[in-house]
Parts: sequence; structure tokens; C-alpha cells
Amino acid sequence: MKEKLKNQFAVITGASQGLGRAFALELARRHYNVVLVSLPEQNLEQLSEWISKEYKVEAIYYETDFSVDSNIRLLSSWLNKNFNISILINNAGIGGTQSFEQAHIDYIDAIIQVNIKATVLLTHQLLTNLKRQPHSYILNVSSIAAFSPMGYKTVYPASKAFVHSFSRGLYAELKDTNVFVSVINPGAMATNKEITSRIERQGIFGKLTLLDPAKVARYSIGRLFKRDTVIMLNPLIWLLATVLPIWIKLPMMTNIVKREVLYENSVCNGY
Ligand SMILES: NC(=O)c1ccc[n+]([C@@H]2O[C@H](COP(=O)([O-])OP(=O)(O)OC[C@H]3O[C@@H](n4cnc5c(N)ncnc54)[C@H](OP(=O)(O)O)[C@@H]3O)[C@@H](O)[C@H]2O)c1
Repeated sequence: MKEKLKNQFAVITGASQGLGRAFALELARRHYNVVLVSLPEQNLEQLSEWISKEYKVEAIYYETDFSVDSNIRLLSSWLNKNFNISILINNAGIGGTQSFEQAHIDYIDAIIQVNIKATVLLTHQLLTNLKRQPHSYILNVSSIAAFSPMGYKTVYPASKAFVHSFSRGLYAELKDTNVFVSVINPGAMATNKEITSRIERQGIFGKLTLLDPAKVARYSIGRLFKRDTVIMLNPLIWLLATVLPIWIKLPMMTNIVKREVLYENSVCNGY
């Protein structure tokens, strides 16, 4: 196995923390060389050195900001010039809770750039490289939010619905080639302070459904190699999200998220 993967690399975006970091560790554990991609100044150098020592694989890093259009092209050509890529994990993604009207234009633009444009353009630019390898995989990170539009998040769930639809379409287009495409739709994961405290405020239901990023990464990579095209991590929530009619889930989700906005505003205002 080790010998077979010697000259092959897995590219993981958003790899410095959270789920992306967990993917990098899981793939290195499975003897894949990794290219970690993330924003500058996120200790990527230290992480790649540690991965390399711990798992005896090559771990390369590249710092870039996907919210700048030309950076995606620069990254793609650097990757194509230097590596044989057999796995691409489009994990980088941003979200948040804000009133659409009050959100800054740069915030909205960054969600579209990172979640949609980086995923699509990187995949497009690396496809020839992926096709050259004996067996290749693309794993896109969507979200359970893809199945439920909601006010006060608006652009984030729409971007994840895009990622889901894009992944399914690409799977169908490439299914008779050596490139296999899959998508995961996780629910809430304890990846940063903001998410963890938000989930804690949701009480027992939030805690029960909270996912561990290391377990998500391990399960997802296992399912990816078993050629599962849509990887579901919270079957119960997925069932609710897909079975509930839109006239129930849209106002219900919007009210839940609106309460969060009101809570955050009251905390900021010192109430
Ligand atoms: N956490 C959840 O509850 C949850 C639930 C469903 C889906 N997801 C999805 O899972 C993925 C990972 O989420 P996470 O919670 O692990 O997120 P996170 O901890 O907030 O990490 C997001 C990753 O995206 C990268 N990123 C953000 N803006 C970027 C930019 N402008 N250019 C390049 N990279 C950028 C970050 O890089 P830096 O490290 O450099 O900041 C970070 O590594 C995302 O696609 C997210 O939408 C998360």
C-alpha cells in the first residue's frame, strides 16, 4: 500500500483546523502524502512537519486566501506542476449567522468565493491531473444545511445546496472514468468556539447531535473508498430535513436562527 501511494498526493483545503485538519490526519494515517492548503499564518508549517514525522509521509503546505479570485488559479497551476493528485478534498468553507440586509458585502462575497468558486474552479483545474492517476477521488464538503433554506443564514445554506448539486452532477458525468466523486453533508461539529457555544445553547438535542470531526473524517474517508456517492453523517437529522415539508421547516429553521441573532445582539449590547 505504502509503495503504491509513494508518488501520489491528497490535497485538502481548509486543512489548518477543524474538519480539514482531521481529514489530513486520517489520510496521512492511511499512508497518503498530503498537501495542506489554508489561509496564511495558521501554523500550517508546524502542522505539516508534525504530520510528516508522525506518519512518515510527505506533508507539503500552501498558504493562500480563496477570497481572492486569482489565488485559486495560482494554487491549481502550482499543484499541477508539482504533484500527482489522486485525492482532492474541497473542505474550506465559511458561514455564520447574520441578517442579510445588515451583512457586509465582503462577508457575502467571501462565502460565495470560498464555498462555491474555490470548490468548482479547483476541481475543474485539477481534473486532468486526477484523471491521469489510476484511481482518484473528489470529496466535497457540503452540509445538512443544504437541505433546508433558512433566513438569517440565507447565503450559507444556498452555497451548500450548490456544492451538493454540483457534486451529484459531476459524479454522474465522471462515473465511467477513474475519478469518483462524493459529497458529505454533516450536521454541527465541534470545530470552533462559536459553533460549540451555539450548540450548547440548543440544550440536549444540540449536544446529542453534535459530531466529532475526527470521527467524521475517519467515517467519510472509509465510505469514500467504498464508493459511497452521498455520505450521510446524521441520518436522523437528514431524514427530518428531507421529509419535513418546506412550509414547516423554512419558518421553523428561520425562527431558531433568528433567536440566535437576537441572543448574540443582546450579548453584544450587554443585556
Ligand atoms: N462545523 C460545523 O458545524 C459544520 C457543519 C456542516 C458543514 N461544515 C463544513 O465543513 C467544512 C469545515 O468546517 P469547519 O467547522 O472545520 O470550519 P472551520 O474550523 O471554520 O475551518 C474552515 C476552514 O476553511 C478555511 N478557510 C476559510 N476561509 C478561507 C479563505 N478565505 N481562503 C482559504 N481557506 C479558507 C479555513 O482556513 P484557516 O484555517 O486558514 O482559517 C479553515 O481551515 C466547511 O466547509 C463547513 O462549511 C461545518
